[in-house]
Amino acid sequence: MRLDNHGAQFGAPVLWHRSLPRVRFGSRNQSRVSDVSWDTDTLPEGDTKSAMVRAMFDAIAPRYDMVNRIMTFRLDVRWRKRAVRELRLPRGSTVLDLASGTGDLCVDLAKAGHKPLSMDLSFGMLSADRSGSPRAQSDILQLPVANGAVDGAMCGFALRNLVDLDVFFRELARVVRPGGRISLLDVGIPHRRVIRFGNDIYFGKVVPRIGALLSDGAAYRYLPRSVSYLPPRDKLVQMLRDAGFSDATHEQLSGGITQMMTGTRNP
Ligand SMILES: C[S@@+](CC[C@H](N)C(=O)[O-])C[C@H]1O[C@@H](n2cnc3c(N)ncnc32)[C@H](O)[C@@H]1O
Repeated sequence: MRLDNHGAQFGAPVLWHRSLPRVRFGSRNQSRVSDVSWDTDTLPEGDTKSAMVRAMFDAIAPRYDMVNRIMTFRLDVRWRKRAVRELRLPRGSTVLDLASGTGDLCVDLAKAGHKPLSMDLSFGMLSADRSGSPRAQSDILQLPVANGAVDGAMCGFALRNLVDLDVFFRELARVVRPGGRISLLDVGIPHRRVIRFGNDIYFGKVVPRIGALLSDGAAYRYLPRSVSYLPPRDKLVQMLRDAGFSDATHEQLSGGITQMMTGTRNP
């Protein structure tokens, strides 16, 4: 498989993508962050967002998995397995895990008999990956992958972190072969009012406290708010269809606290 589009390669466990700017980041102590901070009331855009997202995930990487399991009551494990099943690809398929974080989807993909390749912007998250899959540090808006080179692609809980969703969906359509599949997960906004009310309280008040206790309060204040970056579901589906997945569908999981989109690359 040729992975030559933007100069990155797989093979070594983690590789530096030369086009990425270096970002200074702090540990859990926010006061040591000199030029990038995520302790803000406004949601950043463009390059500021990208730099902030990367620095924030670098900082929370060591405890990311533990906090995730606690705050979702392990539902995240179930959502990922479901998303892998919805790929409906034959065993042995090559599947990208984009914005792979610590590689949870790679583990499920390998268990399903696929060949996962993982890419993420955050060196900290890639370093915390224990999946053993080939990894590359890369901005998933500029994939270092040749046209039509993979059978499928997944992205778990990262759409809202991207600077431009249209660009990402077009990249998916470029690298997935005709007839290949995508399966995408992200947090959602439940449609039923009662569930939405409970969800708002839990993610608005409880999750930031769990985050502050175990990891980084500012990050876990930012993450629930970042759902507002996402367009409504009809718009998301239309964007995927326009990009080249004309059968794209949307499904709410667990009452809508998570959303899943799947699609087949047009012939
Ligand atoms: C909430 S985590 C999700 C990690 C993993 N997919 C999961 O299911 O747990 C979001 C991830 O998106 C990554 N990310 C955000 N923007 C990115 C970009 N433009 N390119 C690559 N990775 C990105 C972050 O570094 C972080 O690891």
